[in-house]
Amino acid sequence: MATLFTIVAMLAVFASGLCEEKTFLQRAGVAFNSRQYRSLLTVSNGEQFGNWTWPEMCPDNFFAVGFSIRVESNQYGSDDTALNGIRLICAKDGKRSFLYSIESHTGYFGEWSQPQYCPSGVLTSFQIRVEPHQGLFGDDTAVNNIKFRCSSNPTLEAPGMDWGEYGHWSQECEDGGICGIETKMEEYQYGLDDSSLNDVRFHCCNKSQE
Ligand SMILES: *[C@@H]1O[C@H](CO)[C@@H](O)[C@H](O)[C@H]1NC(C)=O
Ligand SMILES: *[C@@H]1O[C@H](CO)[C@@H](O)[C@H](O)[C@H]1NC(C)=O
Repeated sequence: MATLFTIVAMLAVFASGLCEEKTFLQRAGVAFNSRQYRSLLTVSNGEQFGNWTWPEMCPDNFFAVGFSIRVESNQYGSDDTALNGIRLICAKDGKRSFLYSIESHTGYFGEWSQPQYCPSGVLTSFQIRVEPHQGLFGDDTAVNNIKFRCSSNPTLEAPGMDWGEYGHWSQECEDGGICGIETKMEEYQYGLDDSSLNDVRFHCCNKSQE
């Protein structure tokens, strides 16, 4: 059903695209997970809670050109979780009117930020701001914020939270860009301390050979 819906939605956009410029954004989910990737970008300052969940990939020839994050604001004494999710926005050949989004497993708290885009080019590396483990009775938030670097060089910082420190930059995607995401998430703790997103890794894909 999802596939049928996608096709119908795509036809609708192609038809309307003839008369007006319109942004079309479709959630890709795991539909394109058979895409071959070249390498995985990782960092070493992720936190320890939870497990790697599942990857989501941009469609063939699409690369991440922007992102938004789901972030919970300061809970002032209640359980903080800070960064809960990262949504990558994928485009093909720099065309920003026909987009797919991917996000892997996302936490349940906070609001999605306004998307931020590379002025041109694609996302090629990242670093994360992580609050270290707060001890047995502390309130863990784990990942608080993320920065990406674009192939056109600017860095983009998400509007996350400020606890913890940034670690090192990941390696860069060579000859292509970020094309997939997988999150490490602590599952909902039912009243115990939630930290939500603990780590993230991104797939690099080669530029197409055409
Ligand atoms: C990507 O390109 C490199 C260098 O040309 C090549 O060694 C590698 O096999 C390619 N990977 C994929 C998944 O196409
Ligand atoms: C994570 O995986 C471990 C085993 O690898 C398991 O014991 C644990 O329950 C998992 N945690 C969650 C939150 O699913």
